[in-house]
Amino acid sequence: MHMKIIAIANQKGGVGKTTTAVNLSACLAALGWRVLLLDLDPQGNATSSLGVERGEGLSLYRALLGEVPVADQVLPTRLDNLFLIPGDLDLAGAEVEVARLDNHLVRLREIIQPLRDDAPFDFVLMDCPPSLGILMTNSLAAADELLVPIQCEYLALEGLSQIVGVVEQIREVEANPDLRIGGIVMTMFEARKNLSQQVVSEVRTHFDLLTYQTAIPRTVRLAEAPSFGKTILEYENSGPGAKAYRALAEEFIRRQRGEAVPTAEAGVSVPGEEPDPDPSFPTGGGARIPVPTRDAPPLRHRGFLR
Ligand SMILES: Nc1ncnc2c1ncn2[C@@H]1O[C@H](COP(=O)(O)OP(=O)(O)OP(=O)(O)O)[C@@H](O)[C@H]1O
Ligand SMILES: [Mg+2]
Repeated sequence: MHMKIIAIANQKGGVGKTTTAVNLSACLAALGWRVLLLDLDPQGNATSSLGVERGEGLSLYRALLGEVPVADQVLPTRLDNLFLIPGDLDLAGAEVEVARLDNHLVRLREIIQPLRDDAPFDFVLMDCPPSLGILMTNSLAAADELLVPIQCEYLALEGLSQIVGVVEQIREVEANPDLRIGGIVMTMFEARKNLSQQVVSEVRTHFDLLTYQTAIPRTVRLAEAPSFGKTILEYENSGPGAKAYRALAEEFIRRQRGEAVPTAEAGVSVPGEEPDPDPSFPTGGGARIPVPTRDAPPLRHRGFLR
């Protein structure tokens, strides 16, 4: 496999992007893959979730402006195989300053190219901020694929169709014609709640092959771990949160290899609970986006494209 760049994105806030970026990265690293987590959010939540102090001077910001090579911003973490480019408040300035550059939409794509050429990592996971700003669009322009965490709640599908529309636009303006949605992960799943079940089945109806069979359950441990600067593997290694993210990492790898694309009949499985009987796994690569949408806010109107 070549180095793969994955944007973890959803313009909706608080859906589990950072929790997924941090813990999926940690689980992939634990499986032996070399992972770079790129914190693209000025809030720096992924950075602090790994127990790294912000303000140490390393950040993507100066690399985005072309002042330093991106490879110089990489920090090792406590976990083997897991590396980090921290996010910092500076990045908020990038929203403005990168927008002034000619090639502003593909800025990140360009500065990250040396990493693609050298491929010191197997995967680069980018934790995107929630707004449809310069940082998120740059991330989509730089990515091979997108992983979309969706919270099991009302209106989840609307957020999803918006992001599908944004992906279409990024492809249409040729910023990244090959961008594809690699998967949708249901987060904060509550098996006992009808709503969770309904949202999963609705998402699966529209995005069958794209929906991960592994859902992440709502568990307070996942919410607590970041305040200790720990991944769930360090905080509660045998609990349901760690089990779920380990299963997600395994499914992620199967999908990367084109081994397993579960169908709607396979249902959704929440690790730690009774698995669905006999899920069938037709093989095949990732799917293209099946549903075009008219709901996406046009990027042009937001000043991203000139
Ligand atoms: N499976 C889960 N169970 C319980 N709490 C969770 C779970 N996943 C995320 N949370 C909590 O929900 C909140 C939002 O999660 P997170 O920060 O990962 O979302 P986000 O999409 O990155 O948010 P933002 O859009 O602000 O970047 C956090 O407090 C997090 O700890
Ligand atoms: Mg976040």
